[in-house]
Amino acid sequence: MDLKKLEELIRSCRKCPLHKNRTNAVPGEGGFKKRILLVGEAPGRNEDIQGRPFVGAAGKLLDSLLGEVGLSREDVYITNIIKCRPPNNRDPTDEEIHACTPYLNQQVELLNPRIIMTLGRFSWAWAAERFGLEYRKLTDVRGKVFRVSTLLGRFSVIPTFHPAAALRRRELTDLIRDDFLTLREELSYYEGASSEEGRDPKTS
Ligand code: URA
Repeated sequence: MDLKKLEELIRSCRKCPLHKNRTNAVPGEGGFKKRILLVGEAPGRNEDIQGRPFVGAAGKLLDSLLGEVGLSREDVYITNIIKCRPPNNRDPTDEEIHACTPYLNQQVELLNPRIIMTLGRFSWAWAAERFGLEYRKLTDVRGKVFRVSTLLGRFSVIPTFHPAAALRRRELTDLIRDDFLTLREELSYYEGASSEEGRDPKTS
């Protein structure tokens, strides 16, 4: 299985009832040049129409947060916990999450990221469970760097708020901005380590 095949599989998925009302499933996309994986919650209306992640207002904010730290969609892969839009953008249910996260887990395996940044509480909950991190509420862990070592290798998990939350509560924007600076610093750690030692710390 390669990433393109997995994306095709996701586009035709019928594992949960969300497929019935979708226009498009949204597998994810991005150039992934810096091996950063961003994980949001679920497609909204614009994403459902276009079949692409974060193309609405939250996506604009995400693009500008990336831009402020010198990154773009060419550097990251962006996906979601849930690949199809829940009706009226309601929270995903446990059943939907259970049906859909095997795709995300496969994406992680195929992509082999150095850094996973989770956007919002659902993706943080997924990462905590998946990588054996102690679950604490998002406000307590946002902006922290969790360096994990699993059978997949070593990588860092950085939780932050969902950009849509910052659109509703402007005071969160500066906190998210700080967390993107942390992402940039963590990337420098990996880049420094790989150029100094001639190897990537993830695979050492
Ligand atoms: N919100 C998300 O969590 N994901 C998207 O793709 C768009 C908005």
